[in-house]
Amino acid sequence: MADPHAKPAGTPMPPEYAPHLLSPVRGLVLSPGALVRRLGLVADATVLELGPGPGYFSPAVARAVPKGRLVLVDVQQEMLEMARERLEPLGLDHVEYRLAGADSLPLESDSVDVAFLVAVLGEVPDRALCLAELHRVLRPDGLLSITEYKVGDPDYIPLRELQSSVESAGFRRSSRHGYLIHYTLGFRKTAPGVEGSWQRG
Ligand SMILES: C[S@@+](CC[C@H](N)C(=O)[O-])C[C@H]1O[C@@H](n2cnc3c(N)ncnc32)[C@H](O)[C@@H]1O
Repeated sequence: MADPHAKPAGTPMPPEYAPHLLSPVRGLVLSPGALVRRLGLVADATVLELGPGPGYFSPAVARAVPKGRLVLVDVQQEMLEMARERLEPLGLDHVEYRLAGADSLPLESDSVDVAFLVAVLGEVPDRALCLAELHRVLRPDGLLSITEYKVGDPDYIPLRELQSSVESAGFRRSSRHGYLIHYTLGFRKTAPGVEGSWQRG
């Protein structure tokens, strides 16, 4: 089994490690149901999960939007295939699987109600560009939810650093959950995006 701590910082988790992400023990820190409650989903929402890995959170999120859609975007095909193997047998056919990097999201502007990332942003090489893309695809009243784990994640982003990065991209913090081992911050868009959205024309 590959050691995720051995990988260079700011690079994707090796797919060999992905089975660990499906451990039920994770629910002791943050269960899929608890995350769904933090996202405040409505049945017809369009949801973007950036960096789903093998899809630990994805079934619960998909079930919460039975009349909407869940778009999984990951830079590694192996991760998307693991997520597909997990979701398709459950009959969750309103889930889309898109191979893409966080710096070029395959979604229309102003098309997403909720975008969420769990233990992903620290692996993304260009954080500002990723946040500019998230700003672009979110509807004006959309929610950006970012969860980070302080323990066990070599790419952990401290809360203050994360908040500063996201606010610099044109968001304001709207909620906080979690304290000791992990946190989830919710953000809403403020003014037009900055730092990079102009680059994409
Ligand atoms: C540590 S895993 C977390 C998976 C899942 N969110 C979870 O908590 O179980 C990080 C995921 O982000 C993906 N990822 C990393 N860098 C990315 C990028 N630049 N664009 C899109 N996905 C990326 C990885 O391939 C991996 O699936």
